[in-house]
Amino acid sequence: MRTFWDELALYLRYLQAIGVEALPKRKSFERFLKLDLSPPPKNLEEVAKEIKNCTRCKLHRTRTHIVLGEGPEQTKLMFVGEAPGRDEDLEGRPFVGRAGKLLDQILETIGLRRAEVYITNVVKCRPPGNRNPEPDEIEACLPYLSKQIKIIHPRLICTLGLVAAQTILATTQPLARLRGKVHEREDFKVVVTYHPAFLLRYPSYKVQALEDLRLLKRLYQELE
Ligand code: URA
Repeated sequence: MRTFWDELALYLRYLQAIGVEALPKRKSFERFLKLDLSPPPKNLEEVAKEIKNCTRCKLHRTRTHIVLGEGPEQTKLMFVGEAPGRDEDLEGRPFVGRAGKLLDQILETIGLRRAEVYITNVVKCRPPGNRNPEPDEIEACLPYLSKQIKIIHPRLICTLGLVAAQTILATTQPLARLRGKVHEREDFKVVVTYHPAFLLRYPSYKVQALEDLRLLKRLYQELE
């Protein structure tokens, strides 16, 4: 049976066929996922091919490597960070620097192995000087995240830090209001926690981060 979203996608394809080029400004990431009209790639390898020479935003001028993400295509749990830092840019892999080591430790504490989850970022190229990604950079990169989510089909997404939380939940609320609870979406649940780099700077927040991750682990275990 066709869902509302199937119908809407059909209608939008019709609009596209008759020459409508611009869609209304997107309001939520989940709507963006549904309204993305580009043909879905079959696997992550195809996304890697597509992003290989990406010049969709100015970050391509200063990057060393694109950091698409890492982990199994078949997983129920996806972690989404902000953007690659210096170490990630040099290695082409997400969360390999100091923040990544802390992420590994946190995962270990709650009994999860890095190898069983998929790890990526909202933005796939390093912003110079590790500044926050700018809205146009996030917007330009979202189709890649959207494709990754469509292929992996995670049942749970854990966002690391404010940029990822606000992007995935399409909100401007502060992180303190978003963490500590489960955000139910049609296709997945979202748990928000602090960015490991923030925890390196403010270690006292690790207590709350562990609460978030324990909540995440419980949800993960509940998945059939
Ligand atoms: N910070 C992020 O948000 N992502 C990385 O991959 C590394 C550091």
